[in-house]
Amino acid sequence: MADIRAFPVPKGGLAFWWLGQNGFIFKSPEGTVVSTDLYLTDSCAALGREMGVDLGRAVPVLLKPEEVDVDVFTCTHNHQDHTDPETIRGLRNKDTALFIGPHPSCAIFGNEGVEAGRIQPAWPQGEFEHRDLRLRGTFALPTDTSDLNHMGFLLQFGNGPKVYITGDTDYTELLEEAGAHSPDLVITVINGGFNNLSHWEAARLVKAVKPKAAIPCHYDMFRTNAVDPKMFEASLQIQGAGARYWELRHGGANVFGG
Ligand SMILES: [Fe+2]
Repeated sequence: MADIRAFPVPKGGLAFWWLGQNGFIFKSPEGTVVSTDLYLTDSCAALGREMGVDLGRAVPVLLKPEEVDVDVFTCTHNHQDHTDPETIRGLRNKDTALFIGPHPSCAIFGNEGVEAGRIQPAWPQGEFEHRDLRLRGTFALPTDTSDLNHMGFLLQFGNGPKVYITGDTDYTELLEEAGAHSPDLVITVINGGFNNLSHWEAARLVKAVKPKAAIPCHYDMFRTNAVDPKMFEASLQIQGAGARYWELRHGGANVFGG
């Protein structure tokens, strides 16, 4: 976390780190730090045992919850690999100004001790600001009936690069609406399992949205819900999606633009 806080982000650019699944930390040139869907425990393992599915984490915890120091903590929906009560319980909340997410995620924030004044409910097409961050909710189609409040995010710091994060979503052409905002980067789920976008559907979405680069995620955390990201690379190529394939390494610093 100290490395992230100290990392120099070029003017007009964006730095980001992948911590597994849909967990990212973004940093602006002004020093604003925003997280999405941080899953920093192994809490899903117990859930998996109830379901008879191995949901033990396959990516090491690269950052402990109590080490997290972000200005804005966001969640795309209330599934435990995205809004993890155990991660949220462990946060040093005093340093985080805002907790943003759809209502069911906000209920978890509240249950885990975040004061109401720092909780900001979010919804598709809603716009939220904090310092140089502008976050807009995007449409996402629920993958089952256990949570009907899925959403994606469009993030932008100042006039820097725009990032579209799909969040978990079933496929629908309605996702293409995010293209109206001309994101420079798309970070998309590709796993196909549990009714999420497959690598083929994700490539179709990327082709419609037309970003400069496409980053796959949500294929790495659970052995029972994994896919080879090279299949997404191939799907981008075969469909002529036109975006650069960008595969991330867990924990490494990535810089875009600037
Ligand atoms: Fe998920």
